[in-house]
Amino acid sequence: MTVQFSIAHARSGRPVHRNLITGGAGFIGSHLCDLLLQRGDAVICADNLSTSSMRNVRPLLNHPNFQFIEHDIRQPLHIDGSIDRIYNLACPASPRHYQRDPIGTMKTNVLGALNLLELSRKKSCRFLQASTSEVYGDPEIHPQPESYAGSVSTTGPRACYDEGKRAAETLIFDYRRVYGLEVKVARIFNTYGPRMLEDDGRVVSNFIVQALHGRPITIYGTGKQTRSFCFVDDLVRGLEKLMESPPAVTGPFNLGNPHEITIEAIAREVLACTNSLSRLQFKPLPQDDPKRRKPVIAAAEQWLGWRPRVTLKDGLAATVAYFTLRMADRAASAPSGGSTRKVRRFSPNPLNLAHER
Ligand SMILES: NC(=O)c1ccc[n+]([C@@H]2O[C@H](COP(=O)([O-])OP(=O)(O)OC[C@H]3O[C@@H](n4cnc5c(N)ncnc54)[C@H](O)[C@@H]3O)[C@@H](O)[C@H]2O)c1
Repeated sequence: MTVQFSIAHARSGRPVHRNLITGGAGFIGSHLCDLLLQRGDAVICADNLSTSSMRNVRPLLNHPNFQFIEHDIRQPLHIDGSIDRIYNLACPASPRHYQRDPIGTMKTNVLGALNLLELSRKKSCRFLQASTSEVYGDPEIHPQPESYAGSVSTTGPRACYDEGKRAAETLIFDYRRVYGLEVKVARIFNTYGPRMLEDDGRVVSNFIVQALHGRPITIYGTGKQTRSFCFVDDLVRGLEKLMESPPAVTGPFNLGNPHEITIEAIAREVLACTNSLSRLQFKPLPQDDPKRRKPVIAAAEQWLGWRPRVTLKDGLAATVAYFTLRMADRAASAPSGGSTRKVRRFSPNPLNLAHER
């Protein structure tokens, strides 16, 4: 596929960049598109829409500096004109999605990264990879610094994602060593916020949707396992800071919120935030599910001047507000008598969580 790209005009002081964001129609990618456009940059969003829909980027389609192309990164991508930055976010991120086609997931991680690294080399542009805390597997040390090599199963059902991301990191640093490419790697920890899918099985969205419907909140395992949840605005600000850091600053950097919380505690926070009377329902833990997750973010603080700012309470309120509206829209557009689901009334407390520099 070949794409013509028109010249962008700066609105901010810093030079305009032409960014390619793969996976840009997804949850995190669409927030990154918003952020970069707000900064006066131009964005080409490439996505195969396998785990997202145009809904996330439809409001951007009339923006003069935005262009969408439907493309699968397992195939080479040709873009006319220069590109300054490639952000590679294209990959199914929830276990339910990446396990649906595990061979496809591995190909997306490895062939996809290879295709985009080649494009990066051809365009002499920077490359940033959305890697993951899953490269640490079920960690034996806690919290996890970037120096920890991980405890990952090569044969389990999560390996297509975890090992795929690890192999992509290897390729990226080999492209730096062999070709001198400017590369950056972010190891993203659990991120949440508006535009998560309702039904992809991720903790926060799952709990919120169950609570709003008044259904039982499903907890896998004892609920004592921990996670650390980062609000999406904080995360995309970190990605941009990493991309714009000096060339010698490559990472990998952990990007996540070090506030650790048990799964049961987050379920109770969601119940409080939604005023829901749902009960907690415990089910067996899936294979290879990590027991503890918390990033050490000292390196990101030191080298990028980045740390999360949004509290869990504020981030949850914004996310609940989003899901409340989504479910109300769906109920309104359902054929009369077609849906018997009841959405709890909720007075959202929408935050103005604008992206900050
Ligand atoms: N959300 C998190 O908590 C989290 C944590 C760690 C890492 N990440 C990483 O961040 C990135 C974005 O995650 P997300 O949460 O926004 O997930 P998402 O599923 O919402 O977004 C992924 C996007 O990539 C697209 N995609 C998938 N395979 C593709 C392919 N072969 N070619 C082109 N597009 C493809 C999907 O259609 C989707 O739009 C992923 O790479 C994920 O591994 C996310």
